[in-house]
Amino acid sequence: MRNDIEEVLYTEEEIQAKVKELGDIISKEYEGRNPLLVCVLKGAFIFMADLFKNITIHSEVDFMAVSSYGASTKSSGVVKIIKDLDVPVEGRNVVIVEDIIDSGLTLSYLIDVLERRNANSISVVALFDKPGRRTVDLEPDWKGFTIPDAFVVGYGLDYAEKYRNLPFVGVLKPEIYTT
Ligand code: XMP
Ligand code: MG
Repeated sequence: MRNDIEEVLYTEEEIQAKVKELGDIISKEYEGRNPLLVCVLKGAFIFMADLFKNITIHSEVDFMAVSSYGASTKSSGVVKIIKDLDVPVEGRNVVIVEDIIDSGLTLSYLIDVLERRNANSISVVALFDKPGRRTVDLEPDWKGFTIPDAFVVGYGLDYAEKYRNLPFVGVLKPEIYTT
């Protein structure tokens, strides 16, 4: 598995330090407001778990799954809810927890859905941001790392469902997805 990685972008230690910083920020920002953290499955599940352990105030989690790239590395532009939230978001202070923002299509769709359900506030925390690939005008409220336009895997991020269990994030060798 490790041999399929061309370059490590962020080590486990660097990621953990950044996730703690983000947890501190969210804890301060939402003190006394019982935020609902919405994890976007599957890619964000490891980030969500680590982030949640670094949130020191009362807060809740829920999970949502939307259509992914499948075995491709580009967004189809079609977003579909595969698994919806269990709890109503009306009046809630929602924090969308995303692994990576690429075109921004997934996120703009989710924000739209949650707005229509009358959330009190909606913010976004993304561990990785690829601003160079944006097709919609959208910025996360908080982000971990800005990354170049390369397909990355690890720490929850997959290629065809593999590599999510790498504790670091790296660039996949192009021959893995071009052959
Ligand atoms: P959009 O284009 O809607 O895409 O912002 C966001 C979702 O696309 C996936 N994605 C990636 N997954 N490595 C991955 O493993 C990547 O480099 C990558 N770029 C985008 C991811 O699921 C994200 O939530
Ligand atoms: Mg995702």
